[in-house]
Amino acid sequence: MIQMKKLFGVLFVAGLVAASAVANSEDDIKARLAPVGSTCMSGEACAAAPAPVAAAGPKSGKEVYSSFCTTCHSAGVMGAPKSGNSADWAPRIGKGIETLYTHAIGGFNAMPPRGMCAACSDDEIKGAVDYMVENSK
Ligand code: HEC
Repeated sequence: MIQMKKLFGVLFVAGLVAASAVANSEDDIKARLAPVGSTCMSGEACAAAPAPVAAAGPKSGKEVYSSFCTTCHSAGVMGAPKSGNSADWAPRIGKGIETLYTHAIGGFNAMPPRGMCAACSDDEIKGAVDYMVENSK
């Protein structure tokens, strides 16, 4: 950043000295500032901007899976059927999707109720089950 400021100063002075170069220097300065201006550091006012409204709607199956279920289901923690592994999932799918929904929502042995997403609605959990099942056939 310090070097950037020096560079900025040099360009600025050069622009003042050579009148014909002013326009170019300003363009350069704007171009150099753009990426800096569009970066939002934590703690800055822009970082506190409210999240987009869309994020408040129901989470997709993929979102729920990526935030919660992947913790156990990507590596098969405690015997969890691995997502993407059809051999793990075939016998589960054989029980019927309604049973899988019920077990995902209410818990099943080491499978915690709602996959530990206490704030997830039934539909969001079902979406995550669908997502895992679809990717594990
Ligand atoms: C703490 C680890 C853990 C998390 C987090 C987790 N699971 Fe599981 N899940 C398991 C384990 C372990 C099993 C296997 C249970 C068994 O068969 O005894 C399982 C089994 C399942 C099954 C199969 C149930 C059946 O009847 O065969 C489904 C469906 C499932 N999980 C869905 C989910 C979904 C959806 C999420 C995320 C919302 C999730 N799980 C998060 C550990 C987890």
